[in-house]
Amino acid sequence: MPAVEIKPGIFWIGVNDRTTDLFEGIWPITDEGVTYNSYLINDEKKVIIDLSKAIKSDVFFDNVTELIELSRLDYIVINHMEPDHTGVFQMFRKIAPHVTILGTAKTKEMLKNFYGITENVRAIEDGETLSLGKYQLKFFNTPFVHWPETMMTLEEKTGILFSCDGFGSYGALQGSIFDDQCENIDFYKREALRYYVNIVGKFSGPVLKAIEKLPAEEVKVVAPSHGLVWRKFPAEIISLYRKWAEYASGSGDIGVTLLYGSMYGNTEIMMNAVAQGISSEGVPVEIFDVARTHTSYMLPSLWTKAGVMVGAPTYEGACFPPMVHAVSMAIRKRVLNKKLTIFGSYGWSGGALRELKRIVEPGKWELLDSYVFLGKPDSEDLKKGEEFGRNFARALKEQA
Ligand SMILES: Cc1cc2nc3c(=O)[nH]c(=O)nc-3n(C[C@H](O)[C@H](O)[C@H](O)COP(=O)(O)O)c2cc1C
Ligand SMILES: [Fe+2]
Ligand SMILES: [Fe+2]
Repeated sequence: MPAVEIKPGIFWIGVNDRTTDLFEGIWPITDEGVTYNSYLINDEKKVIIDLSKAIKSDVFFDNVTELIELSRLDYIVINHMEPDHTGVFQMFRKIAPHVTILGTAKTKEMLKNFYGITENVRAIEDGETLSLGKYQLKFFNTPFVHWPETMMTLEEKTGILFSCDGFGSYGALQGSIFDDQCENIDFYKREALRYYVNIVGKFSGPVLKAIEKLPAEEVKVVAPSHGLVWRKFPAEIISLYRKWAEYASGSGDIGVTLLYGSMYGNTEIMMNAVAQGISSEGVPVEIFDVARTHTSYMLPSLWTKAGVMVGAPTYEGACFPPMVHAVSMAIRKRVLNKKLTIFGSYGWSGGALRELKRIVEPGKWELLDSYVFLGKPDSEDLKKGEEFGRNFARALKEQA
């Protein structure tokens, strides 16, 4: 995408990535895409804020050189060292070695370790300002959103906050970079939540600290490094991030994430009965087949809902492996303090329940009930299953 002017002399020069299948090598973005937003300020001093992944580097450099000669660039501000924002660094260094790189003290260390860069690097102080002529940058250390070196940069005259991964989202841009020109804002909000839980959610404490530290009244535009630039409703994406961060210590909304897996359909038959029981109480339930769904898509539901219902058969004396993976990932991503129920079919001696209890222990999930049955459930079993689902829904409503 060609450069877009956000304010006079301040440009988006990002890369719209519609070809990468897995973000960070894990999270699916085949259908959604992603952007690596980079920004250029063409003032007396010329600055690029955050770079891009080493993909479509020609597009990135074309965008820069359409606006300024590289020999005239003064600074590169690095809010975050992850290679989705620094991948073009080595090439940059070769063609513009004179440019001064600005980042936190930790960034300076990491530049050496990741790219062997030690020359022309300056560590900025938290709260330091840098005058560019007409514009002035102010730097805020915001460690662990989501790496130790992360910071955010505010342009004080326009109130544009270059927040890097903070307030970011999956989703390639569909013509416009701005929230107010976007037809399907709900897509970006949904993808922002998926991005949040996949990438940043484990660091919800540092996210809340960063939000408290930023001068909210001065922020007029939120320009993250992934997804839309929020110029009409900058407060909205910040308040969504705050809300999502608060789930880390709260109990979640009334609702059930129903994760199930089934080899021959026995657990699946029960899953439908259990889901009917939950729904009959008017409690929302979102169902995922763990063998067919990437954890990326389950995590937003797990993050925001109070209840988790796990339906898994026994496999080799333990739990069905795709379920082990799904639940372990949730615990790893600090999905904490959930109410849990477990059901599943077994053939002779069982074992799924035992393994699941062990996996969820570090997440402080409270097991309210369990229901295991032999082989294929009969109509009596299914009645019990429906009741089992209903009881869980009631318990969630009572505890809300
Ligand atoms: C590969 C495989 C391994 C199994 N291992 C065990 C086991 O160790 N213990 C047990 O009680 N049942 C075991 N079973 C039996 C299943 O738990 C049982 O068939 C159950 O009904 C499967 O439920 P599903 O149709 O929902 O997949 C195994 C089944 C398969 C296919
Ligand atoms: Fe990152
Ligand atoms: Fe990123």
